[in-house]
Amino acid sequence: MSKKIQAVRGMRDILPEQTPLWQFLEDRARAVLEGYGYREIRLPIVEMTDLFKRSIGEVTDIVEKEMYTFDDRNGDSLTLRPEGTAGCVRAGIENGLLHNQAPRLWYQGPMFRHERPQKGRYRQFHQIGVEAYGLPGPDIDLEVILLSARLWKALGLDQLELQLNTLGLAQERAAYREKLVAYLGSRVRALDEDSRNRLHANPLRVLDSKHPDMAEVIAEAPILLDHLGSESMAHFDWIRGNLDDLGVQYRVNPRLVRGLDYYSRSVFEWVTTRLGAQGTVCAGGRYDGLVEQLGGRAVPAVGFALGIERLIALLEEAYGDSLAKDPLAYLLLAGEQAQARGLQIAEQLRDQVPGLRLQVHCGGGGFKGQFKKADKSGARFALILGAEELKRGVCGVKPLRTDEQQQEVALDALADFLKNQTR
Ligand code: HAM
Repeated sequence: MSKKIQAVRGMRDILPEQTPLWQFLEDRARAVLEGYGYREIRLPIVEMTDLFKRSIGEVTDIVEKEMYTFDDRNGDSLTLRPEGTAGCVRAGIENGLLHNQAPRLWYQGPMFRHERPQKGRYRQFHQIGVEAYGLPGPDIDLEVILLSARLWKALGLDQLELQLNTLGLAQERAAYREKLVAYLGSRVRALDEDSRNRLHANPLRVLDSKHPDMAEVIAEAPILLDHLGSESMAHFDWIRGNLDDLGVQYRVNPRLVRGLDYYSRSVFEWVTTRLGAQGTVCAGGRYDGLVEQLGGRAVPAVGFALGIERLIALLEEAYGDSLAKDPLAYLLLAGEQAQARGLQIAEQLRDQVPGLRLQVHCGGGGFKGQFKKADKSGARFALILGAEELKRGVCGVKPLRTDEQQQEVALDALADFLKNQTR
């Protein structure tokens, strides 16, 4: 036997047992997003590498260490997208979607980051992302947060904590940056290697360090929130006031800085304690400078992305395999004549019963084996068709999940019988 080829480390198959949970999440999310006027955009998985360098930031974990970057056959440097915001902005500029209109867009699909795989952290993972453009006021920040809260409700998830912060404006961050550099400089011996390298290049990223030795240094660092001007604070306070009025609970986390460079003003994360270290299931914020930075006219923007795998882990706890879409009926066919007629009858039933989930036995074999398969399929009924039934124009119907007796139903009444069961 030749050597088996395995999936790439950190990239998982989503098996049929799991797809009902994914479909449930995707269906509910789509319904909520449409309910807020968001329209779906489908974006390429591969983009020019510079797009991510210029948006996420050169001195970030994602760009420095985690991107899947390669030269294509023309020698262009391409990258598997590590996130969706940059591509969405690129597409918005390129297709003229951002001028004189305020599009609200959403996307979903795989993202790629070469991180160390662990529970809730993969190298191929999936996001649903939401981006609203052209709106500078805090009303849209609030609505985006409310939308995410409604998503959890639609999924039946509670116990998620909303954490909120504001990163202010670029000029306010510049003043804070000096203080931060001075502080970090005074603690330089306590910094890990990454943080030392970032001290001057991108000191705010030091605050996002997950290195255990850095926790104390970060905890004692000056706080950005204390250095913001009145306009930034008014924007933030408006959001907070309205969340209070609406009874949406949140915690201001002044240490929340996000791992990507493009944010300004509001940032937020939804966090659970149920998934160990990878507890952030959804994250986002405002990124007013990015469109201009990528070559468009200045357009304010706000959005978030949720991590599907992490939410699936929570849904699995809540729903187990109860969302599986088993067939309603499994059609057993005994004998050659029934085999051909059975497929015809099944096609007629599908015409007559919209949404019917009917699995027809293929591959022949005895009744005993067919019954076993019917049982395993999860179907509620076994439909039994042999030469004898065909002759009499009936079909045996055996409930597989209750003790009810087997009965006979006339073939021309079978569609109505199945319709009644699907109600
Ligand atoms: P992010 O915080 O990098 O933000 O990722 C958003 C979410 O994706 C995370 O909170 C997490 O749930 C999930 N995620 C990230 N990396 C992984 C991984 N390796 N394995 C599993 N799940 C992961 C962004 O990507 C921004 N584009 C969000 C945004 C949209 N901001 C504004 N608009």
